[in-house]
Amino acid sequence: MAICFHESSKEFHLYNKDISYILTVLENGQIGHIYFGKKLRDRESFAHMMNFRPRPMAVCAFENNMAFSMEHIKQEYPVYGSGDMRYPAVEVLQENGSRISEFVYSGHRIYKGKPEFSGLPATYVEQEDEADTLELYLEDRVSGTEVTLYYTIFTELPAIARSVKFTQTGEQTIVLERAMSMSVDFPDKEFEMIELTGAWARERAVKMRKLEHGVQAVYSMRGCSSHNYNPFLALKRAETTESDGEVYGFSLVYSGNFLAQADVDTYNVTRVTMGIHPNTFSWELKRGESFQTPEAVMVYSDHGLNGMSQTYHTLYRSRLARGYWRDRERPILINNWEATYFNFNEEKIMKIVRTSKELGIELFVLDDGWFGKRDDDTSSLGDWYPDLKKLPEGIAGLAKKVEAEGMKFGLWFEPEMTNKESRLYREHPDWILATPGRKVSVGRNQYVLDFSRDEVVDAIFGQMKKVLTEAPISYIKWDMNRSMSEVYSASAGAQDQGKVMHQYILGVYRLYDMLTKEFPEILFESCASGGARFDPGLLYYAPQCWTSDDTDAVERCKIQYGTSFVYPVSSMGSHVSAVPNHQLLRNTSLEMRANVAYFGTFGYELDPNRLTDEEKQEVKEQIAFMKKYRRLIQYGTFYRLLSPFEGNEMAWMVVSEDRKQAVVGYYKILQSVNGPYKKVRLQGLDPDRKYHVRRIEEGQYEEDLYGDELLWYGLNVSDSSSGENREVYNGRNGDYQSRLYLLESIE
Ligand code: DGJ
Repeated sequence: MAICFHESSKEFHLYNKDISYILTVLENGQIGHIYFGKKLRDRESFAHMMNFRPRPMAVCAFENNMAFSMEHIKQEYPVYGSGDMRYPAVEVLQENGSRISEFVYSGHRIYKGKPEFSGLPATYVEQEDEADTLELYLEDRVSGTEVTLYYTIFTELPAIARSVKFTQTGEQTIVLERAMSMSVDFPDKEFEMIELTGAWARERAVKMRKLEHGVQAVYSMRGCSSHNYNPFLALKRAETTESDGEVYGFSLVYSGNFLAQADVDTYNVTRVTMGIHPNTFSWELKRGESFQTPEAVMVYSDHGLNGMSQTYHTLYRSRLARGYWRDRERPILINNWEATYFNFNEEKIMKIVRTSKELGIELFVLDDGWFGKRDDDTSSLGDWYPDLKKLPEGIAGLAKKVEAEGMKFGLWFEPEMTNKESRLYREHPDWILATPGRKVSVGRNQYVLDFSRDEVVDAIFGQMKKVLTEAPISYIKWDMNRSMSEVYSASAGAQDQGKVMHQYILGVYRLYDMLTKEFPEILFESCASGGARFDPGLLYYAPQCWTSDDTDAVERCKIQYGTSFVYPVSSMGSHVSAVPNHQLLRNTSLEMRANVAYFGTFGYELDPNRLTDEEKQEVKEQIAFMKKYRRLIQYGTFYRLLSPFEGNEMAWMVVSEDRKQAVVGYYKILQSVNGPYKKVRLQGLDPDRKYHVRRIEEGQYEEDLYGDELLWYGLNVSDSSSGENREVYNGRNGDYQSRLYLLESIE
């Protein structure tokens, strides 16, 4: 049994072979936190790990016990107002205006498996023995509010999924003003906080800062998880590296407004809370009504940052992503966006398709501009019928022609948006989010449809279904190109406006759900101006996501490296684009561009007819390589080796499950002269195996080396710059070098 309840101590011990999570029912009935970390042997009581000492000035729960102060007790799901002065996990506004509550233990249930949460994305199990779940029941007797804390521990992974359900059973109507998905108190503050920060075209940069007293947080109030911060944070020890040491990860399975914070008090206790951002959130619950929070996934690793990431990769790739494409190698696609932007017609598209087919590409994706009268970004969002001027035989005609060439066809949508210049807006001006009497801000000339309303979601579903039914469509890119502002729903009453942003996201999930049920074999790629919605919530519906609008290979080193902290290689949309690059005007070799894009879903975003014959040959070889190794790259174990945030080089690798094969990518941004000799220590190999190591460009380098040599000494990556650097290296001496090494067991 992986969850024990010790009756005498009233302690719960959740454990598997790697981790322990221990909590207790406190003397006042609230839930205390005892321990989270590396596995401890079970025992009847861990109470000695709690500190109960009288502290000067403390506000205490009992008159005769100066040691029992909620301000100083580590907790599981804290409230404000029972002596704890820190940010709480929950705040309930009651009819008398009070926000004080006290949730006390009323029972629990332990069972095999994991519950589902209707309408919300969440990790899941396929067999009951993959996880054990604890449901802890708490109640606030004054307001009549019941809380269920869910904890699911996975049998084979050092991960615990948490969420919370509120049910109002009392007579009065309450308002949830804060309802976080999880909270946990650590006994010290000796951590560095890792966050993934950015902006458009530079998403998920790895940022670390030493925890200090006070609140440090990442958040989104944009209606989407955002370019700026990802719904993730990690706490690592100062000495933790990619391969060694302790780290705790926290990831929210949600695509809307979120808050993830570490609040360090002046006694050095670190409280991590994560959930829907309380700003603009309020949720009224009448008697008999419930509210379910999104899920948060906590991971512990004592094998460094790679250990944490690999747990997220395995869990999110195999028990969050679902459906037909979950375990399948991803098709190599070509997308016409950077090739044509809005300026295309059927003839131009078919020329791209024919050449792509010759190169070995499997899927053609028609991006923005195929519908309504969309010749630029000022019109037609919401009018999901083909522009017959560009495509005389519509999407169905084009898709059939693409299929006749032997390629699959994919299509771009931006379902949640409209332009004022559209039939949809003219017919339904009240369908956008807008606050009465106030101006409505505009972003990319567009407005946000009110997806909190079922009729809006249903109307968009109807339009999309028609297109998807009439044409053979194998892939959808679902875009979302602006943040929300002036959020207000014309269909909701005053007391329900605080629900709108969450209901909007539930509407997005509902549309995804209807589409994936109706068209189970369509591959969905989510997108939001590049990577503004790269989050676990959407991975549940769309197993891949467009990582960034920045397709420059050098920038992509950082973006994909940062993204890999949480998200698997199989989820990262990555394309080889034209040079000079459209975002930076930088020139990099075709080789460098592919060597970065291989570590993702892989595709092209250029006009293949503009390639020289020599380049076409190179592309053919790239595609042949990816077809041969994509199972290994997309489903192997991924390791980060050298961080582009710390120096001039970047390296990563993937290793097959049986450790017989590996691919290593090494990237050097600026060239140097008379530099040191260089080697990179590899990871994950079998020390006792001999590997044939070769650069994928034939004749460049080949050697047989033992796993232990590669692990403990390293792979020699010195180039001509470890000398005078006058010789031409691989035809392209200079900046932006990259190499791909293939390792194959020869024993
Ligand atoms: C933003 C996306 O990230 C791009 O790839 C492209 O689809 C454009 N939108 C189209 O408007």
